[in-house]
Amino acid sequence: MAQNKQGNRLMQPYESRFSAIFGADHYAFSFWKGRAALYAILQSMELSDDDEVILPGYTCVVVANAIRYAGAKPIYADIEQGGFNLNPASVKERITSKTRALIVQHTYGIPADVRSLQAIAEEHGLKVIEDCAHVLPGSKYQGELLGSFGTASFFSSQWSKPYTTGLGGMAITRDRELAERLTRTHATFDKPPLRQNAQLQIQYALYQSLFKPKLYWYSQKSLHALSRLGIFVGSSNTKELTGEKPADVGWRMGAFQQRVGLARIDDLKPNVSHRQSLSGYYSDLLRRHGWPIYDHRDAGAITLLRYPLQVENKKDLLEWSSRAGIELGSWFETPLHPVALADHHLMDYRLGLCPVAESTAGKVINLPLHERVTRSDADRITQFVLSHSSPASS
Ligand SMILES: Cc1ncc(COP(=O)(O)O)c(C=O)c1O
Repeated sequence: MAQNKQGNRLMQPYESRFSAIFGADHYAFSFWKGRAALYAILQSMELSDDDEVILPGYTCVVVANAIRYAGAKPIYADIEQGGFNLNPASVKERITSKTRALIVQHTYGIPADVRSLQAIAEEHGLKVIEDCAHVLPGSKYQGELLGSFGTASFFSSQWSKPYTTGLGGMAITRDRELAERLTRTHATFDKPPLRQNAQLQIQYALYQSLFKPKLYWYSQKSLHALSRLGIFVGSSNTKELTGEKPADVGWRMGAFQQRVGLARIDDLKPNVSHRQSLSGYYSDLLRRHGWPIYDHRDAGAITLLRYPLQVENKKDLLEWSSRAGIELGSWFETPLHPVALADHHLMDYRLGLCPVAESTAGKVINLPLHERVTRSDADRITQFVLSHSSPASS
């Protein structure tokens, strides 16, 4: 184990390797899930009941939950028209004297307008936490690493993320004071129970053989069913959909996850080049058929998690793709995915609060870019979309 610079905490080898991507001045803390990493960061910021944290109204519900578990109030800002990340103008409108922090999410791996958001945060004395759950570690924006702009950032290595340890999360910071507090918070988190560790290990082995684009819908449905029965460890707990706090949001990373993470973290280059070349391939195919191509900020350097597209018939298209065995992603389906709009009030979200996000969630689908997708899969997937849908009107 490597000696962590801030004192008596020893970083695990995986944490050391992860933090080394960001430089010798960074500290890394590993967790059972990304949401646990965010929860630990927020806890370490010692927020109080009155404090507010701004986040995009286009995210996973667990992000809003982590804010609530830490004792603060989630305040939702809208996303950019035609894009998927925070709109700085909307963030400005949401700032009050109670705002303490801003969560900047790089949705699908597309960098948010982080410099403008940083400037706003500095002007108002807010901490920036980067949500890098969709970011492949090492991805850059204008020459700087995503995850190194904020006071802290967190990554996810859950099944659907850029690389996977089954489930997993990592908190990163170079702020010495925050690192010291995170060291104390991390020590209060529990080790995952042996049973869940073992279940994850079995799931991981099955995932390696089952998770293929043609079997996507079948694997998704089986996984959900098995986790509802308690046979598999689910990515989310049904409690989280109503804002309740599950036990595993307070767990550190287990030994199995650490081992897989350590083995994978040094081998991200083929993953990056596969994702970049497949993104270019999708863009060429779609462009040839007259579809508008989303102009990602700083497009040359980014590595997408999934390839987002806005279509005019999302609901039907997803249903047809499920029947045809075509892998298409649906997220985000609502501003607080996967919670139904009718239940958003449970997380203090009022309908109409983020109109662009609400409308985008009704139109967006995403195409897979993971390492099991071949060019012929990409052809099949694109042909399916082209023949069953049209671009959404803006
Ligand atoms: C944007 C975003 N942030 C955070 C998370 C939480 O990551 P994890 O599943 O590892 O807790 C997710 C998804 O799961 C996500 O999509």
